[in-house]
Amino acid sequence: MPIIDAIGQGGLPCLDLTNRFGSARIYLHGAHVTNWTPTGGSEMLWLSARSFFAAGKPIRGGIPVCFPWFGGHPSDPNQPAHGFARLRSWTVSARSDLADGSTKVTLTLVEDATSRTAWPHAFRAELTLTLAQTLTVALTVTNTDAAAFSCEEALHTYFAVGDIEGTTVDGCQGRAYVDKAGGGAVERRDEAEVIRFTAETDRFYPATPGPHLITDAATGRRIRVAKHGAQSTVVWNPWIAKAAKMPDYGDHEWPGMVCVEAANAGSDRLHLAPGASATCATTLEWVH
Ligand code: BG6
Repeated sequence: MPIIDAIGQGGLPCLDLTNRFGSARIYLHGAHVTNWTPTGGSEMLWLSARSFFAAGKPIRGGIPVCFPWFGGHPSDPNQPAHGFARLRSWTVSARSDLADGSTKVTLTLVEDATSRTAWPHAFRAELTLTLAQTLTVALTVTNTDAAAFSCEEALHTYFAVGDIEGTTVDGCQGRAYVDKAGGGAVERRDEAEVIRFTAETDRFYPATPGPHLITDAATGRRIRVAKHGAQSTVVWNPWIAKAAKMPDYGDHEWPGMVCVEAANAGSDRLHLAPGASATCATTLEWVH
């Protein structure tokens, strides 16, 4: 029985997927993937030991789903960062075991009175997780409203690494980016061969198709991050001072993770006419 209903941390319901390709866990809370271990490998995703697992709070690690805005709310600073999708309980709408041995599950979120107070639009968001040789997470947003809307989204993947200081990310060479580290937002162009991490790193790369390759010298592990329908890439590590300020992030955990996020945000935000849909997906592959 490859898809099992389970109770996860904090008593939150989740689904455990297991097949010949590996295993994965997804919480209904936020449609949040927290674990992925390919067969023969170890855990690929990072999850903070200090994460909250509670209604109304985001899980720190795994793959948060950011929607319908990325970062701060466009006009209301009292709204939660990265939208409400990661704070809500989603509904399991489909699950199947495919003939090739892979496993697929879809979770759905639609508008309600609460979401309308933060974002006054009717929508359907479907998150499909496919556990195959690769792990694919696809977010399809449909405008079910009578008027057009704009939105932002991200699959905010936290990868486990042995040591951030020996980790590189490629696929951003020559791209312009917004450097959000240090409080300001400065436009730069990435002239380096690969991204290396020596301080807080918070970069938003618009119009960057990928794929990206994460190379972790400490463990010798490489993970390929392909994107489909995701124009933006975000690369993040909070480093020491920012880690210390986050209540759901251990002070000494920062060397063990890097976020490489598939997004449509800022100048790449989506514009959806009534009835229109768009899919943003990321495919993770352990390269060995
Ligand atoms: C990244 C942003 O995507 O997410 C960072 O670029 C942010 O600015 C980080 O700090 C984590 O956000 P949050 O809301 O999960 O703490």
